[in-house]
Amino acid sequence: MAIRNIRKIGDSILTKVSKKVDKVDKRLQELIDDMLDTMYAAEGVGLAAPQIGVLKRVIVIDVSEEGNSPIVLINPEIIETEGCQVGDEGCLSVPGKVGTVERPNYVKVKAYDRDMKEFTLEGTELLARAICHEIDHLNGILYVDKVIDGLRDADDDEDDEE
Ligand code: NI
Repeated sequence: MAIRNIRKIGDSILTKVSKKVDKVDKRLQELIDDMLDTMYAAEGVGLAAPQIGVLKRVIVIDVSEEGNSPIVLINPEIIETEGCQVGDEGCLSVPGKVGTVERPNYVKVKAYDRDMKEFTLEGTELLARAICHEIDHLNGILYVDKVIDGLRDADDDEDDEE
């Protein structure tokens, strides 16, 4: 387990589409462990593999206050959305900034877990926002392309970075 370097906006890897995972081997388990370590160390609520330079469709999320409820999603696909929420978002790849983004208020996602077992996950509010934000990373999309009123400095803002 190790903390990896987080790629920052301007790095072309963040604009690339990640590849589907076809098997979970030891290397992929290590990648997941490193992603969790890196996310927690950076105090983020989510991280996608391309953010540490690996173009694989893997994301980790933890929106719990205690930071003890990690969610691992391999090859995630949104299969249902409902409603909409408008709120501030940040990203570990865009340090010091926040911006307002519209997202669905509810999402249902299909994915594989660390044992390559398929499961579905439903999320509302922050979890729904995090799922959409992280899946965007797998498609080479940063939230800065979706902000409604431009980026702001996060100085006065307590928002969690994803
Ligand atoms: Ni992000």
